[in-house]
Amino acid sequence: MNYLGIDLGGINVAAAVVDGEGHILSRDHVPTPRTGAEDVADAMAAAARRAVERAELTLEDVVSVGIGSPGTIDPNGGVVEYWSNLSFRHVPLSRMIKERLDRPVYLENDANAAALGEYAAGAGRGSSSMVAITLGTGVGGGAVLGGKLYTGYNYAGLEVGHFVVEYNGRPCTCGRRGCFETYASATALIKRTREEMERHPESLLWQVSGGDLARVEGRSAFAAAEQGDSVAQALVKEYQSYLACGIASLINIFQPEVFCVGGGVAGAGEKLLGPVRDIVAREDYARHNARRTRLELAKLGNDAGIIGAALLPLFR
Ligand code: BGC
Repeated sequence: MNYLGIDLGGINVAAAVVDGEGHILSRDHVPTPRTGAEDVADAMAAAARRAVERAELTLEDVVSVGIGSPGTIDPNGGVVEYWSNLSFRHVPLSRMIKERLDRPVYLENDANAAALGEYAAGAGRGSSSMVAITLGTGVGGGAVLGGKLYTGYNYAGLEVGHFVVEYNGRPCTCGRRGCFETYASATALIKRTREEMERHPESLLWQVSGGDLARVEGRSAFAAAEQGDSVAQALVKEYQSYLACGIASLINIFQPEVFCVGGGVAGAGEKLLGPVRDIVAREDYARHNARRTRLELAKLGNDAGIIGAALLPLFR
């Protein structure tokens, strides 16, 4: 059986055809339009159709379309209630995609989908409890507790990107200040990298970004840090300390068996997570317990969301 998965992001829409074991057969991606929900739905449908063509299938060959979208989602009504980064309010995304692709549609928060993906086929496999976070345009979170996705009373649970790590800190699109995602998202890292580049024209950060602020990526700081650039090393350290602060606090709340870190920035691998692990090991309140949370990188990498989205019908 084949399933379509769509991962709606703040920068890109990614679509993939996935088999029942969570293997990706084909994929496509397009930039996310910033011109409203109808255009976003068109882009999603176009990427989905191309992914299906690339797998040499037709839409009739896919069981369903699963969507992971940022924001608070009503999975039963198929509605994105609120997504601050793209100013979505009460967008009936499932209906809009059904109109375009004419397949059954399942909708879930993107980080919840990633958590389900990692639980089914990645770092959380076989665990009794898992919390997953994704470090991308925003910071998302999902928890699978006792085999069930925990979504809160109103499906808005685990909005960890909007939990405050710096009181009165940087402004967030949600209206608060100091939210985790204003320090730990790829967007935040890119913003800080550009700030440091402007202050340090001698930094290797310029070289790794082709001398162009517009070409800075989440990985730029890691690349320059590895080449010994002290500005980049300080940036990476600052990023890791905020990330560790948020993770340690979340571990103190959930104490899950597995805490999984995914999303684009997690592509830096152990270079990112190694130092974070050391800080968390010191700060976790359960540091004297025999049983400790395992802090792991997402095994499915940045594909956790799309695989989890595709397999949504298997969790309903
Ligand atoms: C949104 C979440 C989403 C996360 C990752 C945050 O800004 O509030 O709903 O899961 O970004 O996309």
